[in-house]
Amino acid sequence: MCGIVGYIGKKPAAPLLLHGLSKLEYRGYDSAGIALAQPGHLTVYKSVGRLQVLFDQVSGGEELPQTVGIGHTRWATHGKPSDENSHPHLSLHGRFAVVHNGIIENYAQLKKELQENGVAFRSETDTEVVAQLLEKHDSEDMLRTVQNTVKELVGSYALGILNAAQPDEIFAVRRASPLIVGVARHGYFIASDIPAILPHTRRFIPLADGEIARLRRGEITVWDEAGKVVEKPVQEVTWDISSAEKGGYKHFMIKEIMEQPDALAATISPRINDKNEIVLDGIHLTEEELKSIRRIAIVACGSAYHAGVVGKYLIEKLTRIPVEVDIASEFRYRDPLIDKHSLVIIISQSGETADTLAALREAKARGARVLSVVNVVGSSIAAESDDVLYTWAGPEISVATTKAYSTQLTMLYLIGFYIAEKLGTLTREEVLSLLHELKRLPDQLRGILGLAPQLKQLAQRYAYLEHAFFIGRNLDYAVALEASLKLKEISYIHSEAYAAGELKHGTISLIEDGTFVVALACSPDTVEKTLSNMKEVKARGAEVLLLTTEEHRQLAEEADHTIYLPRVHPLLTASVEIVPLQLFGYYVALARRCDIDKPRNLAKSVTVE
Ligand code: F6R
Repeated sequence: MCGIVGYIGKKPAAPLLLHGLSKLEYRGYDSAGIALAQPGHLTVYKSVGRLQVLFDQVSGGEELPQTVGIGHTRWATHGKPSDENSHPHLSLHGRFAVVHNGIIENYAQLKKELQENGVAFRSETDTEVVAQLLEKHDSEDMLRTVQNTVKELVGSYALGILNAAQPDEIFAVRRASPLIVGVARHGYFIASDIPAILPHTRRFIPLADGEIARLRRGEITVWDEAGKVVEKPVQEVTWDISSAEKGGYKHFMIKEIMEQPDALAATISPRINDKNEIVLDGIHLTEEELKSIRRIAIVACGSAYHAGVVGKYLIEKLTRIPVEVDIASEFRYRDPLIDKHSLVIIISQSGETADTLAALREAKARGARVLSVVNVVGSSIAAESDDVLYTWAGPEISVATTKAYSTQLTMLYLIGFYIAEKLGTLTREEVLSLLHELKRLPDQLRGILGLAPQLKQLAQRYAYLEHAFFIGRNLDYAVALEASLKLKEISYIHSEAYAAGELKHGTISLIEDGTFVVALACSPDTVEKTLSNMKEVKARGAEVLLLTTEEHRQLAEEADHTIYLPRVHPLLTASVEIVPLQLFGYYVALARRCDIDKPRNLAKSVTVE
């Protein structure tokens, strides 16, 4: 996830681009850059670090006279944050400049072909192939050049393009990444999101998938995928600036919950190639090395640890290698049984959590191989690991994690399938069927997000609770841990997660009339058992919210409220189960008027022990 802007009009472009980028920093802030057009020449200014560094470098852009330009704020995916990897990227002879948001999935193949034809690359990014392809297809007709270039691309992209030979126009392309055209009195904009244009105009044209737009002074033309000119009505923004930054939502947390289908797709799709093989680009373990692994330890904190609990059930079941899961602050001080035959999987959204980083160092000191699952590219945990797999969830701003957790689950599924196939504990056919199910998850999540109004209503009813319990078994229990944390950290309701079968060993004494219990019963092997535990708490007066799948409709009669979830592969239930409970936690906190994105006493990145 990155932010792009572009401007062509009567005013100097640089200050407008910088201001637009400042409104898109929520989409990434590893580096920033702008390219300005004048006849026969494109000038690029770019720098690693926050936008302020670039702002200082060009003194706010006040002295730069060009009135056409594009800009970018980066969330690193391919290649670490650095000056070279920052956008805009120039083609070999500087004829084209490109800014890009998204992922070019076939970039490695395209890069290889271009290199074989003598093109020298300056960066490690996937984006640079777009600039080089534009030069390869360069013709008198810029539309044809752009069309021939995008024909070669597989993946997601919103692009802003400048051509030194035609400095009075900007081309923009959109496929599976957001892009709008802003229509102001003094000129036209392109932008990844509305806040970037709001100080200048409320009028915009949303581009659809596959469309190409050309912005000239006083003229906007849009072509569809087939190359036909399309008439696009201009729309009006009705939001204020602060809600526009949150995509029209009240909080980043709900925006990020809603982004989960796209985040999952971004994590999954580049990892499965056309032949339905799993491509884990960041794993360099050989088959020999994989076969020598005697145990796996998953280590993390908080929600990342909860993702690890799901990972334990799954990886152990699929690979038959013993897997333990540990809280990083415990692992580091308990003299763990880890050696060179151990694989340690470290999970972290920020890649900077102090306890997790210390656990990683402890594992390495004992000779273990460390594979990390991280969201922030170039973070300390990523830098110190032997192998890194990125969850491409994009920047997560709300302190309570949602989309990062969901993409961590997805990455753990892929790791489990990958190791199991390499070790022969899963056949190719079994892997194919699991991948088929995995690819359906983003759409299934979209359906579940449609339950939001129902969950909001339910949350209003239970907003004034003092205590809550979440119960489940196996994978359902792993999700109960995360669902309970979600509710308590943002609503300040005391909440506990219990393995359903464990309640009767003490905690059931807390259940009385009106106690709120959420029963998770989606794992087919244990549904009946959990339902018995649900009856036990009902018999003691509890009010129960049940999550289960359609086929258990008759069993659900015992519950006070039931949320039905789509049937997914039994190993993937966590991904669908957590979403309604994130929504429930969010709406309870909303009803209690809590500071949802910044709950008291918490921080997004915990860099102290
Ligand atoms: C809870 C939450 C935290 C983090 C934990 C680890 O919503 O976000 O529990 O999961 O602090 O952080 P990372 O993943 O950055 O290592």
